[in-house]
Amino acid sequence: MTEGALVNVSDFEREAARRLPKDVLDYYSGGALDEVTLRENRAAYDRIPLYYRVLASLRERSLATTVLGERVSMPVLVAPTAFHRMAHEDGELATARAAASAGITMIVSTLSNTDIEDIAAASKGPLWFQLYIYKDRAATRDLIRRVEATRCSAIVLTVDAPLLGPRERDARNRFALPEGLSVKNLLGAGQGTVSKELFGSGLAKYVGTFVDPAISWKDLEWLRSITKLPVLIKGIVRADDARRAVELGARGIVVSNHGGRQLDTSPATIDALPYVADAVGGRTEVYVDGGIRRGIDVVKALARGARAVMVGRPILWGLAVDGEEGVARVLEIFRAELDLAMGLCGASTVAEVDGSLLRPE
Ligand code: FNR
Ligand code: LAC
Repeated sequence: MTEGALVNVSDFEREAARRLPKDVLDYYSGGALDEVTLRENRAAYDRIPLYYRVLASLRERSLATTVLGERVSMPVLVAPTAFHRMAHEDGELATARAAASAGITMIVSTLSNTDIEDIAAASKGPLWFQLYIYKDRAATRDLIRRVEATRCSAIVLTVDAPLLGPRERDARNRFALPEGLSVKNLLGAGQGTVSKELFGSGLAKYVGTFVDPAISWKDLEWLRSITKLPVLIKGIVRADDARRAVELGARGIVVSNHGGRQLDTSPATIDALPYVADAVGGRTEVYVDGGIRRGIDVVKALARGARAVMVGRPILWGLAVDGEEGVARVLEIFRAELDLAMGLCGASTVAEVDGSLLRPE
């Protein structure tokens, strides 16, 4: 397909699939077990009708909003995804530059192939850091100190992966990081290598060896006690967990099931979102990720109570197709589709995208 013909996120997905080695594509695309939640994350959006308004005297749309008080050009953020240098040699540096140029926040994964210091130096855009708590608390604390010394303005604690979800594509491929790539942030701590195992996924072995499965609500309190950065919790699908996170001082909740890569048959995130948003009741910001591929999906997420959405795989498709430029084009597609979707709904600002669009009156 010629690059000019890539007009939506799915075109980028198909083009990325043409270019990526099978094991890399399987790692990026795959979900847990029978991939029911992977499919449902997407399918649930198609079941939500939008009751658009007419004669709304449309003005030029403003997609701008704020997240944790930081201004972003649109309510679409870059979800934390591991191993960007498997998609393109510039990896997380390219993603960070494209996110900065688009005026949106990138959440950098603990498992990036590039040191957080280098990512922070590569662009001037807003960065949050997604944290896995390792069994090695000293290494975890050291990583947090390094994050604090960069421009990162928040920590996103991932809580839906105490064990790595069963990704059978990776098991068949005996997934491992390609030669020359590592979990760069932990390389100095001797915890940066994802090797090929005799059986199964090398990442499953890595996570089982180094990431702490025993994290509890006390670790949220621990984390808040050792950093001044705001802490958000990523991976919540339950109202009671959301309430507890807010009561323990979480500054944001990301309704997420890890893109269907953890517990298969967990709920589609767009269906879990309203319960979480109601439970949080405006006391903190709520975000959602999973299966978001269209501007109309973003409208539905905002209408169901999200402050903003995060997108994972679409960024990887853009990276695989054309590095920084590819990510920039994927983000531009989201912007253009969101602008048009808002207009067709009769909304000229993000604030006008609310729950009333989900009902006939
Ligand atoms: C992820 N995700 C993830 N989440 C996280 O907290 N830390 C991580 O390192 C990763 N790594 C990762 C790698 C890949 C290849 C994927 C696809 C996902 C989950 C990610 O943040 C997000 O929740 C989902 O990707 C959102 O779903 P979509 O947009 O990919 O459908
Ligand atoms: C994944 C882990 C790295 O989903 O978060 O692959």
